[in-house]
Amino acid sequence: MNPEKIETAFPLMEEAIIALQRSLGTSFFDAYIENTENLVDNAKVRVLDQQPDEATVKKVEALYQKLLDLKLDKEDWRKLTQLILLKGSKTESIQPNHQLTPDSIGFLFVFLIEQLTLKKEQPLEILDITVGMGNLLLTTLINLQAANYSVKGVGVDNDETLLAVTAADSILVDEDIKLFHQDSLQDLLVDPADYVIGDLPVGYYPNDQQAKKFVTHSEKEHSYAHHLLMEQAMNYLKPDGFGLFLVPSNFLETEQGPLLQKWFKDEVFLQGIIQLPNDLFMSEHSRKSIILLQKKSEMTEQAEKVLLVHLPSLKDPNQVTEFFKKFEDWKSSNL
Ligand SMILES: C[S@@+](CC[C@H](N)C(=O)[O-])C[C@H]1O[C@@H](n2cnc3c(N)ncnc32)[C@H](O)[C@@H]1O
Repeated sequence: MNPEKIETAFPLMEEAIIALQRSLGTSFFDAYIENTENLVDNAKVRVLDQQPDEATVKKVEALYQKLLDLKLDKEDWRKLTQLILLKGSKTESIQPNHQLTPDSIGFLFVFLIEQLTLKKEQPLEILDITVGMGNLLLTTLINLQAANYSVKGVGVDNDETLLAVTAADSILVDEDIKLFHQDSLQDLLVDPADYVIGDLPVGYYPNDQQAKKFVTHSEKEHSYAHHLLMEQAMNYLKPDGFGLFLVPSNFLETEQGPLLQKWFKDEVFLQGIIQLPNDLFMSEHSRKSIILLQKKSEMTEQAEKVLLVHLPSLKDPNQVTEFFKKFEDWKSSNL
């Protein structure tokens, strides 16, 4: 990754999106998608019914030329799109459950997958059933490929706009991801994956009838969407695969926590809980952890010691290195 190039590219991309947004009279996200689609279409602005106007087309295409002259690589483009989307999410006040997963967390997923993959040459399929704007999945795929893994991604989401962002970005960064627009709690047409990952939306799932198909459903109220989605994702995993999910740190202490514990007991092994640094989150209530699950099968067993770590900081390289070391030690004596 080249930080200076990204710094130069950011205002160019932002100016192009704002110009399209003004001329087309759309939301930031629609202008973002239009902009990305233009870039992948040979950096030509699409004109329909004389929109955008000629002056905008000229201005935006000149900005595209400057962007292309920077010769960004895959990870530069991804990083740039992430920064632009983060800024756009602020002005458009996007709901917390729709926000993209920051790199800092995505890189931990990359580390965990590298650690848990026994044969580097084995092709891996990674499924994210709450793919949103795709940053978590793209961060994971691109950085694993950079470390010489052969990986493919599959993403599902029920939000059309967010999925359109992922679709456009995946072409921009040249990643062939299979994407599906649907409620992930209905049956999925995907093959079993080596890893299922997700930054799960926290809240209630309104369709009680459908929720009943899952062990983690509640009889008393709407079920927690993140419990059902975790259970569903694990259904689409190979027998020795892992599920890595970003969940609220208090996931075992909530009203419906016992339902999740029952599912853990009967169907999956909870192998690890990595509590993320407090300073990544606005309040105690919003703190998150990555949990590490494995399906019960002939090929898997409960780790002798469940990994329980609190990562104090992602900013201090010594503390991150210490965490990496702790994980490697735990893995070699428990998995
Ligand atoms: C926190 S966001 C995921 C962010 C994503 N990892 C990224 O980097 O952009 C959670 C996503 O779950 C999706 N979602 C919520 N309920 C869903 C459902 N029932 N089926 C499919 N997607 C769902 C939301 O649309 C949202 O995109």
